[in-house]
Amino acid sequence: MDNREKVLYDDGTHKCVMFAFDDESHEETFLSVNQYLIVQNGVGILVDPGSEAIFDELYEAVSKHVEIENIKFIFFSHQDPDVSGSIAQWAISTKAKFIMPSLWVRFMSHYGFMEMSRVMSLPDHGAKLKFGGDYLKFVPAHFLHSPGNFSLYDSKSKIVFSGDIGAAGVKAPTDYKHVVNFQEHADDLHGFHKRFMGSNKLCRAWVSKIEKLDVKTIAPQHGLIFEDENATLFLEWLKELKCGSDYMDELY
Ligand SMILES: [Fe+2]
Ligand SMILES: [Fe+2]
Repeated sequence: MDNREKVLYDDGTHKCVMFAFDDESHEETFLSVNQYLIVQNGVGILVDPGSEAIFDELYEAVSKHVEIENIKFIFFSHQDPDVSGSIAQWAISTKAKFIMPSLWVRFMSHYGFMEMSRVMSLPDHGAKLKFGGDYLKFVPAHFLHSPGNFSLYDSKSKIVFSGDIGAAGVKAPTDYKHVVNFQEHADDLHGFHKRFMGSNKLCRAWVSKIEKLDVKTIAPQHGLIFEDENATLFLEWLKELKCGSDYMDELY
């Protein structure tokens, strides 16, 4: 199976697609970078479109699912180059509005993005956006890892696009990138989260917001996605995780 594109949800009017156009192999580990597209009745929202280097490839792949001119929103969970590096190219190529944490709006000019009138900046407490007959919810995920950061919940597919939360460097999967055995995956998760995530308190705050939603899938920006029971196991794991400032003594 081609690992670079996977339809995660499709009910005929609403579709979610996962792309993986920036994967890198580093010896044993495999750092996958996932981009996502949500389409409802021909209108699209692109999620964390990634770096400049993959723009052409992603543009072509996305255009097979939605007319580029019908991409209404592009969401950037945070400011990192693997999330936002292509923002200037998407600005030239679409008429979309750009949704991002308010904290990072001014920094986007460093990627060559100057069209600030097209930005919908998210306040720290998040926002809810009507999308067709359903809604998208921007859930605060600050300091997990970026200090201005949101996850995106799609109420129709019940997918949480979690950004770097749930990310892992893994061995190259042989098939579709989803967690099969959570316990086996936990070591890969731990390596990333211990250093990149802010603290256990912040993890718990995020989990408590996610637990209020009807979630079927958690889809991170790197690594494997968590479906059904594995999504629940991941939330339980994250609640207990020590990370970031919990390791203050080791870091200093
Ligand atoms: Fe990041
Ligand atoms: Fe990332």
